[in-house]
Amino acid sequence: MVDVILGLQWGDEGKGKIVDFFAPNYDVIARFQGGPNAGHTLYVEGKKVVLHQIPSGIFHQHCINLIGNGVVLDPVTLKRECDIVASFGIDVKKNLFISEKTNIIVPTHRALDKASEMQKGDSKIGSTLKGIGPAYMDKTGRNAIRVGDLLDKNFTTQYIKLRLKHQKLLDNFHFNEDISAWEEEFFDAVEFLKTLNIVNGEYFINEQLAAGKKVLAEGAQGSMLDIDFGTFPFVTSSNTISAGVCTGLGVSPKQINEVMGVTKAYCTRVGGGPFPTELDNEVGEELRKIGSEFGATTGRPRRCGWIDLVALKYTCMINGVTKVIMTKADVLDSFSELNVCTAYGIDGKLSHQVPFGISRVKIEPHYQPFKGWHCDTTQIKSAENVPNDMTTYIDFINKYIGAPVKFVSNGPGREQIISL
Ligand code: GDP
Ligand code: IMO
Ligand code: MG
Repeated sequence: MVDVILGLQWGDEGKGKIVDFFAPNYDVIARFQGGPNAGHTLYVEGKKVVLHQIPSGIFHQHCINLIGNGVVLDPVTLKRECDIVASFGIDVKKNLFISEKTNIIVPTHRALDKASEMQKGDSKIGSTLKGIGPAYMDKTGRNAIRVGDLLDKNFTTQYIKLRLKHQKLLDNFHFNEDISAWEEEFFDAVEFLKTLNIVNGEYFINEQLAAGKKVLAEGAQGSMLDIDFGTFPFVTSSNTISAGVCTGLGVSPKQINEVMGVTKAYCTRVGGGPFPTELDNEVGEELRKIGSEFGATTGRPRRCGWIDLVALKYTCMINGVTKVIMTKADVLDSFSELNVCTAYGIDGKLSHQVPFGISRVKIEPHYQPFKGWHCDTTQIKSAENVPNDMTTYIDFINKYIGAPVKFVSNGPGREQIISL
């Protein structure tokens, strides 16, 4: 049986904390897509750790952590992260496994990402510049190097061939930064990667399932950044939705059980692209300040706004969400009025659907106002102590999106979560 935790907005919903919280109930935690564009924040022994490549179950000694074939893996980031994890006494050689079909991010992917963004100018995606788009392009273009290839004697030839191909593209972009230092650390990190557990991910995970083990699939990014269903072209390059679990790990759709979707009690987005409920004013500034809304991967300020139920209902639908987890509810503690977006005004008409041309059309969000709960919720441990005004807010969201909020996260700490 495979349960899934994924983001229902534009990423950074708090997936890392939630996976870490649920990890004690699972035997295997598996990342199924994305790469070092992700930044999943956890608190371990009171220290903040941001994971980019390693699944968020790594600090639970009983958990096997799998980097699935759907992931794009930068060996340099992985090595750095393994060092951090090891400093907490975790032996990655024991409980980290990597699929041999995972695609590798090479230094020229990062260069191509940068060159492509520079060429786009004002219409840039605002990518994390980690090489994600170019790496997935090489996967679908059937040029990629995969983890299993690193062990092959022809790896260097394969690398040089790909490097030459990329060089031609970089020349076209007139990109001439020296990346020799990146290459040096890349080859060093590849040697390290070769010492880790490289497995056939699909046999590995299906053997675990056959033995009755419980698997938790950990999503990266968010559903509104999905390559097919997100706010294209301002999206990432993978399927971030529940369907991506099957292709990203090699498990059958019949194995998927709970789909737990994570949403903030409000909404944020980092990078370019449409964001109908964005608050480009002092309220947005307040959310950013109280919620410490700065990117875990790039440090960029996150754009902030009210929760968007049109988008949330849509992402619950495409994911088949069975439970919703609402994070950062405490960030709204001091607000006297809250708003939730219930419809989009487009060309003078009201719509309850996410439009095809969301990047082109002007959307006027329609809001339903709610009274804030106006109290400190960060110490609440049980449902009966949840303020009435928060219950009213959540009840409305449940009804609108047609999926139940089952947990409310009321602080960044592992123990700050209320089961409703
Ligand atoms: P992820 O990418 O979905 O794992 O989310 P990030 O780690 O990028 O961003 C979430 C941020 O919010 C992190 O700094 C978390 O420590 C923090 N966080 C998570 N849940 C809560 C919560 O319930 N309340 C508050 N105040 N912060 C939270
Ligand atoms: P986690 O897993 C928030 C955004 C980037 C950019 C777009 C494309 O921490 O939630 P890419 O580098 O993927 O080509 O960038 O997607 N983005 C994220 N935003 N959280 C993430 O991951 C993100 N990963 C990518 O900012 O707008
Ligand atoms: Mg993040």
